[in-house]
Amino acid sequence: MRFKKNILCIGAGYVGGPTMAMIAFKCPEYKITVVDINPKRIAEWNSDNLPIYEPGLFEIVSSIRGKNLFFSTDIEKGIKESEIIFVSVNTPVKEFGLGAGMAADLQYWEKTARQILKFSQSHKIIIEKSTLPVKTAQAMERILHSNKKGVDFDILSNPEFLAEGSAMDDLINPDRVLIGSRETESGIKARDELVEIYANWVSGERIITSNIWSSELSKLVANAFLAQRISSINSISALCEKTDANIKEVANAVGMDKRIGNKFLQASVGFGGSCFKKDILNLVYICRHYGLSEVADYWEQVIRINQYQKERFILKMMETMFNTMAGKKICLLGFAFKAETSDTRESPAIFIAQKLLEEKAELRISDPRALGNAKADLAGSKGVIEYISDPVEAAKGCHAICLMTEWELYKELDFKKIYKIMEKPAFIFDGRNILNHSELFDIGFNVFSIGMPLFTHL
Ligand code: UDX
Ligand code: UDX
Repeated sequence: MRFKKNILCIGAGYVGGPTMAMIAFKCPEYKITVVDINPKRIAEWNSDNLPIYEPGLFEIVSSIRGKNLFFSTDIEKGIKESEIIFVSVNTPVKEFGLGAGMAADLQYWEKTARQILKFSQSHKIIIEKSTLPVKTAQAMERILHSNKKGVDFDILSNPEFLAEGSAMDDLINPDRVLIGSRETESGIKARDELVEIYANWVSGERIITSNIWSSELSKLVANAFLAQRISSINSISALCEKTDANIKEVANAVGMDKRIGNKFLQASVGFGGSCFKKDILNLVYICRHYGLSEVADYWEQVIRINQYQKERFILKMMETMFNTMAGKKICLLGFAFKAETSDTRESPAIFIAQKLLEEKAELRISDPRALGNAKADLAGSKGVIEYISDPVEAAKGCHAICLMTEWELYKELDFKKIYKIMEKPAFIFDGRNILNHSELFDIGFNVFSIGMPLFTHL
């Protein structure tokens, strides 16, 4: 079959994989190839054991793989054959040199731009899918247009707003698709080509266009606003603990104001995930670069409160458990940064686990999906750690349970049975406020949560 267009995506990660699967699924007339430098990852995309877990992803991938969706390591061939190239390589926080710990590390991004330049023989539309500092497209343009081959490129920014765990739903039914372009004739033509792809399943009023810098910046700002809401409610959770106010009641009352809205007001042990911290650090770095130190300080505070929240959690555990953890067995229920994903990047559970190990606690870690990643995260840590799939088994003989991830299955556990097999006094620290605290108290547990009343027999 001849395809209408050949589309390539460089970077088969959390963003590239699901996004391309959805485009291929909704646009059978386009051929989509996803390439990656990591052969193991590509082999997994070509197997029954995909490298990432997202509800509904496997069904979609297996229905179209080999038809109009292909995974490959042949980057050169992919570039040569495609008219449209999405770039979704990772852009982690820079770990060295200027801007270390804050700026985005653009080395993979630039390397990819140079590869595109090297192998391109005809005009291409290049689409930034990775989250990038505002003005990155300019650097991309300069690299690509440095060629003497006479090959022309149009750069678009099309940030991805999907959240992990709900990626497929977010892709099928996005709040908006944002496409930024140069406002030149060829920029607008390129933009219209991308609009045409999304228009296969997204209604016109949800596809918005803007200049390329607004598009790049909007992605950073959207994540900063979401994270800011969590830090706002978490900061108030500390005040609730001092005043006997209840954070759930406060969040409910505040969120019922239509202007504020009730989403992202769930107090927790802290936000995690690959994006929030990285993108805010990036925003802060850019603001500092332009001399906007007040603006930078304002956004940096969102990250500080998140760190404070994790530290507060550990301090509360220490205080409650008689200021010593040495030799105590602690069960971590959940390790993923949120439910419905195997991803543990920046998960608050990593910090909590490391601090408990420093205090010489022995850890029993359970998670329905993320044990493999948990092992990798804690590989260098000293101390006793066991990884146990069955949560009841993991809690056996433990002094305390820390609930780290809001998996539904933890609400349904038989806590009467768990209480019987734990050391006494038995503690539960609910880092997500999802359990029924008064019921647990009646069973015999001492229950501590985030910004809610204490239930203690001590
Ligand atoms: C994405 C975005 O790209 C990032 O900017 C955003 O902020 C978060 O989401 P993600 O898909 O989560 O990143 O990253 P990851 O799962 O690490 O996938 C990136 C892939 O790119 C990896 O599989 C990596 O092997 C690949 N890669 C990296 C290349 O193919 N070429 C490179 O040069 C570098
Ligand atoms: C986020 C953005 O939501 C998404 O639009 C963007 O494309 C990528 O970054 P993601 O990191 O997958 O998505 O997860 P998200 O659902 O936003 O949760 C981030 C973290 O905040 C998780 O650790 C979650 O548990 C926490 N969270 C979320 C809270 O602590 N309280 C809340 O009310 C909501």
